[in-house]
Amino acid sequence: MKTVRPVQGEREEIQLAYIEINGGRPLQGEISSSGAKNAALPIMAACLLARGDVVLRKVPRIADVLVMSEILRSLGVRIDSGSNGSMIINCDSIKTVRAPYELVGMMNASFDITGPLLARYREAEVPLPGGCNLGSRPVNFHLDGFRTLGAEVSSDHGYIKAKARALKGSTIDFPKTSVGATKNCMMAATLAEGTTILENAAREPEVVDLANFMIKMGAKISGAGTPVIQIDGVSELRGTEYEIIPDRIEAGTYLAAAAITGGDITLRKTNPDFIDSMLTRLTMANQEVTIGKDWVRVKGRRPIFSLEVTTAPYPGFPTDLQPLLASLLTIARGTSIVVETIFDRRFMYVDEMRRLGADIWVSDRTAVIRGVERLSGAPVKAPDIRAGGALLCAALSAEGESRISGLEFIDRGYEKIEEVLKTVGADIRRVNHDAHGN
Ligand code: EPU
Repeated sequence: MKTVRPVQGEREEIQLAYIEINGGRPLQGEISSSGAKNAALPIMAACLLARGDVVLRKVPRIADVLVMSEILRSLGVRIDSGSNGSMIINCDSIKTVRAPYELVGMMNASFDITGPLLARYREAEVPLPGGCNLGSRPVNFHLDGFRTLGAEVSSDHGYIKAKARALKGSTIDFPKTSVGATKNCMMAATLAEGTTILENAAREPEVVDLANFMIKMGAKISGAGTPVIQIDGVSELRGTEYEIIPDRIEAGTYLAAAAITGGDITLRKTNPDFIDSMLTRLTMANQEVTIGKDWVRVKGRRPIFSLEVTTAPYPGFPTDLQPLLASLLTIARGTSIVVETIFDRRFMYVDEMRRLGADIWVSDRTAVIRGVERLSGAPVKAPDIRAGGALLCAALSAEGESRISGLEFIDRGYEKIEEVLKTVGADIRRVNHDAHGN
C-alpha cells in the first residue's frame, strides 16, 4: 500500500509496504483453516434479516470483514466482540437503508446487503458496486431477481433503489450461474410471501453455508448445494449462533505453497470435500495428497506434471484457485494450458509472474505456461486478492529475495498470511517504511 501524506505543509512522504520473502525453502508443518471470507460476508449481511442478537464464530479477521462491519454500522447496526473471537451483530435499530458509496465501492460483496434490506425493510438504496480488478462486475441478475419477486428497481445517481410493498415468491431462472445473485435472491426470498424457486442456482459451499445459517434463524430453504433451491417465505427470522465454514480458497493457497516449495503441509480444520477439484489437480500434477476427515496433507514432489485446466462454477475448478494452480505450473515439466471462463481479467498476475522468471503467454481467456527449471526472486505487485496469493507462492519457491507489494489486496482475503507462513518455515516479513527506508 502506498500512501502519500504531506509533512509540515511542504514535503510529501511516500509510505511503502510490502512482504519480503527469501524463497527456496520447503514449507513444513501444520496450518489451521480460517473461516471462509465468501461465506462470512453474506452471512454478516443476512443478519439484517433477524430480530435479536446473532453470534458468529470463525469470522476471518480480514480487511473485507472490516469493510462489511463498517457498512452495517453505517446503517445503524450494532457490532460487538463476543467471547473466543466471536462477533455479535444486532440489527434491531436500523437508522437508514441507504449505504455510503465510499464503503460499498471498496468491495463487490457489499451488494449482499441489498437482498436482506429489501426483504426486511422493503427498501434498499445501495450504490452500484462498479467494476473491479477482475473485470466488469454487473449485478443485473440480482436486480432481475428482485423484480421477479415484485420489487421496483431503479438506478438513480449511481445508486440502485429497490422498493416493494410486499415481496411475493416466484420462480427466478438465472441466465448464468452467479454466486452473488443466488445469495442475494435467496436472502430476499426468505421473508417473501409464498414460495420462491431459484433455478440454475450456484452450488458453492458458501451458498450452502448461507442457507444453513438462515435455516438456523428460522428460514425455510431446501436444495441449497443443488441447481434448484426452494425458499418458503416466513414472517420473521430470529438471532442465533453460527460457525462459518472453513475457507477453501485459503486452503488451496496453502496447499499450493506446500507443493510449489517441495514442502509438506498438513491443513487442519478444513473440509476436504470443498477442495476436491484442487486436490484432484494436485494429484494429477504428481503431488502426494493424503485426505483425512477434516484435514489434508500435501507433500511436494518432483517432477511437477503439466496440466490442462478450465475454470467452472462449483463443483468445477474454481476461478479463485486458477492463479494458485498456475503458479505451481510455472515450474512443471512441460507445457500447461489454463482456460479462464468466469472473469475476463483474471490473468492480471501474468506480467508479474514473468518478472519472477515464469514463461506464460495469454491469448484471450487462455494461458499457456511453459514450465521453467526454477523461478528467481524479484519485486512484484499483487493486482488482486488471489493473484497476490499466487505471487506469494511463486516467491516462496523462487531463488533469492522477492518483495510483494499490493498488500491492500492480499489483506482483503488472507488473515495474517505472513505470520501463518512463518510458522511453517517461510523466511518472510512485512515491511513498512518511507521512501528513504525510515
Ligand atoms: N454476472 C453477471 N451478472 C450478475 C452477476 C454475475 O453477468 O448480475 C457474471 C459475472 O460477471 C461473472 C459470472 O457471472 O462472469 C459469475 O459471477 P458471480 O456472481 O458468481 O461472482 P461473485 O458472486 O461476484 C463470487 C466470489 C468471488 C468468486 C466468484 C466466482 C464472493 C464475495 N466473491 O463473486 O470471489 O471469484 O464468486 O466463484 O463470494 C475472491 O474471493 O477473491 C473472489 C473474487
